[in-house]
Amino acid sequence: MEEIEVLIDEEEIGLKVREMAKVIAREHKDEKEIYFVTVLEGARRFSDDLVKEIMGLGGFKVKNYLVKAGSYGDGSESSGKIEVKKGLVEDVCGKELIIVEDIVDTGLTLCFLKEYLLKEKKARSVKICSFLDKPSRRKTDVNVDYVGYEVPDKFVVGYGLDYGGRYRELPYVGVIKG
Ligand code: XMP
Ligand code: MG
Repeated sequence: MEEIEVLIDEEEIGLKVREMAKVIAREHKDEKEIYFVTVLEGARRFSDDLVKEIMGLGGFKVKNYLVKAGSYGDGSESSGKIEVKKGLVEDVCGKELIIVEDIVDTGLTLCFLKEYLLKEKKARSVKICSFLDKPSRRKTDVNVDYVGYEVPDKFVVGYGLDYGGRYRELPYVGVIKG
């Protein structure tokens, strides 16, 4: 079992998610409902916590749609060709959506998903909320509206992020040593 170096501990994660929830709630206070689109699998944990925090603030109705996207193949390096592996069955036509993602790396996944939601699913607008951001690796100019933490160009795991199906359950974000 590899050793993991902690980058962001559990307490910091909790505080950050609460802070992000407050910002999103403030910016959507005049809307009847907030519509999230969570990118499976990695963002599920962040999205659950985020929605819980927003609900805890009171006065909001939230819908959390699920979508699965990924690049062909399953290595730690994106192949660059993205596909929707499990699309939205719900009607989001005309809705203002917020994609919830675990990490933005090259940005290719989010670019693709944004296009999919706008063009194919006819959403009115699409914002992006990602817990982590690796800006040094960006290959697109996708705009990330809400970001938790910037991380260095290292493969990070934990808090929903996995490496070959492992480490997702860690309560902190860390880097595999060695
Ligand atoms: P792109 O390059 O399209 O990639 O922005 C986004 C997706 O790639 C995965 N990814 C990671 N997963 N640790 C992970 O566990 C990482 O450091 C990492 N970097 C990218 C992730 O699935 C993300 O949604
Ligand atoms: Mg992801």
